[in-house]
Amino acid sequence: MKQPRVAIVGATGAVGQELLRVFEERDFDVSSLKLLASARSAGRTLRFRGEGHQVEAVAADAFRGVDVAFFSAGGDTAAALAPLAVDAGCVVIDNSSAFRMQADVPLVVPEVNADALRSHQGIVANPNCSTIILVLALQPLESAAGLEAVVVSTYQAASGAGQRAMDEMFHATRAVLDGLEPPAPSALAQTLAFNVFPHVDEFMADGYTREEDKLLHEVRKILGKPALAVDATCVRVPVARCHSESVSVRLSRPLSVEDARAAFAAAPGLVLDDEPASVGYPTPLTYAHRDACGVGRVRAGRVWEPGLSFWVVGDQLRKGAALNAVQIAETL
Ligand code: A2P
Repeated sequence: MKQPRVAIVGATGAVGQELLRVFEERDFDVSSLKLLASARSAGRTLRFRGEGHQVEAVAADAFRGVDVAFFSAGGDTAAALAPLAVDAGCVVIDNSSAFRMQADVPLVVPEVNADALRSHQGIVANPNCSTIILVLALQPLESAAGLEAVVVSTYQAASGAGQRAMDEMFHATRAVLDGLEPPAPSALAQTLAFNVFPHVDEFMADGYTREEDKLLHEVRKILGKPALAVDATCVRVPVARCHSESVSVRLSRPLSVEDARAAFAAAPGLVLDDEPASVGYPTPLTYAHRDACGVGRVRAGRVWEPGLSFWVVGDQLRKGAALNAVQIAETL
């Protein structure tokens, strides 16, 4: 697959648009590009490398003559169309949660478990955005001292819920600033104007949300630790791009803060950004549009011994979605 023929399903969405930017920046060598979305977008033109490309409505026969299809159009579209794409000879890299927990589908963050790609049967799953950012920071700790338990609270950007959610946040914020009632939320569970809410994806019977459940199961699968304890609280915050995560871990073996910092600094895909005395820690504004995720506020932790607490921030449209998908294709 030196110069793959590529399709993007969901090309008009927030992740689809980011995929085009990542292709351009990384000189991802595509020999042809098919932009697919719903019938609503058929005929729209999107620019790629200076040229206009028409968006087509995705159909069952869209994948003939395509080597790699990047899917970012939700779980239902992936469940319906990814198997057809595989039958047409395509490798599918799917950003939805439709296939992530299937035993025969690798769930891959290339810096952490690229080896899992060897066993793919046509579909590779891109993990949830919060998972990707979290496992990049967990992997060096797992290697250095072993992980026993993880407690994480996320601070997730509006764009994680798609382009419509980001637009909704901007409109609602403007309405409030203009002294008007914000419009009723539709893409998000609540208004995000001057608000935060602990509600990302649907609630389940046990009181956790599906997003919180994804963090548990996906982290276990990627790290190959099926018994790892992971307790997540996922929160939507009025930020355009970048998810932030406050993380506390219980370790199997002692690890000094200094050695933890060194492990983070040496980890691929991560930047150690930890100079609190000079206001040095990662924030969404400083990590937006960056490939690397930032780790800071590294400290010994006050609940578990041995333990550690830290803060990690990453651009969830980039490393949390599009960049990770392109890195999977590059690794394949
Ligand atoms: P469209 O723009 O035509 O609705 P986001 O995550 O930013 O909301 O983007 C979702 C992406 O998935 C968009 O490109 C959207 O296309 C696409 N999409 C949504 N539903 C379907 C569908 N049933 N078939 C194909 N593409 C879809």
